[in-house]
Amino acid sequence: MGRQLYEILCADAFRWLERRRAKSIHAVVTDPPYSVLEYTPEQLNKQRNGRGGIWRLPHNYDGSKRKPVPRFTVLRSKDLERLQDFHARLSPQLFRVLVPGGHVIIASQHLLCHFVVSAFTDAGFEIRGQIARIVKTLRGGDRPKGAHEEFRDLSVSPRSCWEPWLIFRKPCEGRVKENLEKWHTGALRRPQSDVPFKDLIESAPARGTEKRLAPHPSLKPQAFVRQIVRASLPLGKGVILDPFMGSGSTIAAAHHLGLRSIGIEMDEEFFELAQTFIPELSKLQVNGTR
Ligand SMILES: C[S@@+](CC[C@H](N)C(=O)[O-])C[C@H]1O[C@@H](n2cnc3c(N)ncnc32)[C@H](O)[C@@H]1O
Repeated sequence: MGRQLYEILCADAFRWLERRRAKSIHAVVTDPPYSVLEYTPEQLNKQRNGRGGIWRLPHNYDGSKRKPVPRFTVLRSKDLERLQDFHARLSPQLFRVLVPGGHVIIASQHLLCHFVVSAFTDAGFEIRGQIARIVKTLRGGDRPKGAHEEFRDLSVSPRSCWEPWLIFRKPCEGRVKENLEKWHTGALRRPQSDVPFKDLIESAPARGTEKRLAPHPSLKPQAFVRQIVRASLPLGKGVILDPFMGSGSTIAAAHHLGLRSIGIEMDEEFFELAQTFIPELSKLQVNGTR
């Protein structure tokens, strides 16, 4: 650590990607906006004022104060079209800037992941699996609205206990071995040489010091992000991109691991958060990470 390994920019990711040189990024690790709506200035104002819009306070089960989370069930067909369009624009741009064999590890959402898979495979990516991030949320599992007593034994949808992170790869040039030699990509780095990278990762939501350092509504914990960021560059060589960096958890993880990265964030307030807190987050000692 020590040397500045990262570059962060306050910009629109799509504009930035258009101008980026082809085959100049080695991995993408990102957590994009999901309804695409929730991070519009209008919805962010509602979230910051704690009123209305897509952001809702989850039910209070244990008396502790909860932060609003976006409600994806309110999305209408117009919003879904916007989401499809978002990924239909994003996937070919990522395909162009990635080197052959480069991976995309992208956070997803149960009700919406089929749109992402369809856009990325249409753009030419191979689907290589998905990581189940075991995180207990308060989404779903509720009894029918307005009939809690009548239907005590029912849940309208399952209580969500894991978050899918999709793994895509730009096809390799030749065999994986040749691609690794030429581009340093094509595989996922193992946590230890005798332990394969696994698709099941226990990960509680970001809390405590981390959440205080970077109070972004979708902050991902370093204990999780460091594992996937490390896996994304098989030989530890090359550049990782997070085009939707929020408060910069991917960039902080890469910096902690001594890997080069680029982060883009459109919202000025979140960008300033990232600028201030990436150095702090990257220094954080977290159990179970290197
Ligand atoms: C789900 S959050 C990422 C949170 C991040 N993983 C963290 O741990 O802080 C998505 C971010 O993408 C940003 N965003 C949305 N559209 C964007 C765009 N076109 N260009 C750059 N950033 C964008 C939003 O402002 C939001 O901060």
